[in-house]
Amino acid sequence: MDKIVVRGGRRLSGEVSVSGSKNSALPLLFASLLTPERCRFVNVPGLADIRTTIRLLEVLGVEVLENADHAVSLRAARLASHEAPYELVKTMRASFLTLGPVLAREGGGGVSTPGGCAIGARPVNLHLAGFEKMGAKLEIQHGYVEAEAPRTANGRRLQGARIALDTPSVGATENLLMAASLAEGVTEIDNAAREPEIEDLASALTKMGALIEGAGSSVIRVQGVDSLRGVDHEVIPDRIEAGTFLVAAAITGGDCLVKNARGPHLDAFLVKLEEAGAVLDRRDDGIHVRGPERPKSVDFKTAPFPGFATDLQAQMMALMTVADGAGGITETIFENRFMHALELVRLGADITIEGNHALVRGVPKLSGAPVMATDLRASVSLILAGLAADNTTEILRVYHLDRGYERIETKLSALGADVRREKAAGA
Ligand code: UD1
Repeated sequence: MDKIVVRGGRRLSGEVSVSGSKNSALPLLFASLLTPERCRFVNVPGLADIRTTIRLLEVLGVEVLENADHAVSLRAARLASHEAPYELVKTMRASFLTLGPVLAREGGGGVSTPGGCAIGARPVNLHLAGFEKMGAKLEIQHGYVEAEAPRTANGRRLQGARIALDTPSVGATENLLMAASLAEGVTEIDNAAREPEIEDLASALTKMGALIEGAGSSVIRVQGVDSLRGVDHEVIPDRIEAGTFLVAAAITGGDCLVKNARGPHLDAFLVKLEEAGAVLDRRDDGIHVRGPERPKSVDFKTAPFPGFATDLQAQMMALMTVADGAGGITETIFENRFMHALELVRLGADITIEGNHALVRGVPKLSGAPVMATDLRASVSLILAGLAADNTTEILRVYHLDRGYERIETKLSALGADVRREKAAGA
């Protein structure tokens, strides 16, 4: 197994390009299940989760026509199976997004229940309640959700419905949006998630012939259609990767252009980064950042978009470990998303956790140590901390990192960081 070795103390400078968004690309690839025609996506990031998705789609009978550097073409002419197996779902919760499309198109499908993960319980009840409202009959047994929908009078599978989400779940909004595109009549999703990835999915579905209004707002209305056509679509840039590079520059007092970063996708985060002392220039081609000599502490709270993204909480915490003063972080999306804090403490950070609050008292300097990655965003926060630490920081279990960051060590090295990937002992 690989480890990442960081020797801290270098100021980052230069330009780095953000890859396509993982969280956009995943639902888009699953949307190819909705049509027998060819779907082509470009700016697809080269990540483990993308490879898992393509494998899963192949199991379902989707033909992969092209799987090149950042371009994927798929055709789901006929589906060979309607079951998303546990072996694949367990490694990636987004696999649950097979259910909406398969149910809407074929009238029946099964998917393993994803189970919890390191950051929390992460149930799928909102997805399931939505499908039931649309007329699907569900059975959960032996760790699988089996769903079936009888044909409507017009031969469709699902029936449009008014669905109010208890919480604006990104995955539930995406699953229901895809299902609603082929349902009979109108579906209204209230309290829908407003993340940019929802808009990206809706924009691709619209090109496929779906009739969608309000994507990006909390009420989405979908008029179902009989069939959808193929699509050519470019995935939006990854706002979380962009935010990660902005912190990398800020924590090293660096001076970088993060190309393709889109200001409106990162607003709440950028405001806090500026409060912490970074000087930002929101440009057409990206965001330029100049880091402060020493960051200032800030208080922040994660929230659904347009709030501060939970996926950037760990990175911002890393910045605050070396800030001047004390800052409070409240995590409102996932119940167990402070595991990186314990590892940051191993690097000399002063962090106290109480429930979903963390108090970070900045220290002048971190000191390198071996640490363990516990989840995707946690792993990257440890790299960021390593950039600002004395000596060497070794991050073990980096397979988490490869799920969400494309060649991060190469990109950081190009900015002048001393970061390399090595085989861990015993691997
Ligand atoms: C997506 C992102 C993930 C991000 C998260 C929140 C992808 C592939 N992943 O995950 O990176 O951290 O949004 O921005 O896009 N919930 C329920 N019942 C449900 C569904 C969700 O209670 O049926 C709860 C979850 O436990 C969590 C909250 O809703 O507390 C938000 O989860 P959700 O928005 O669904 O996250 P994901 O789509 O899994």
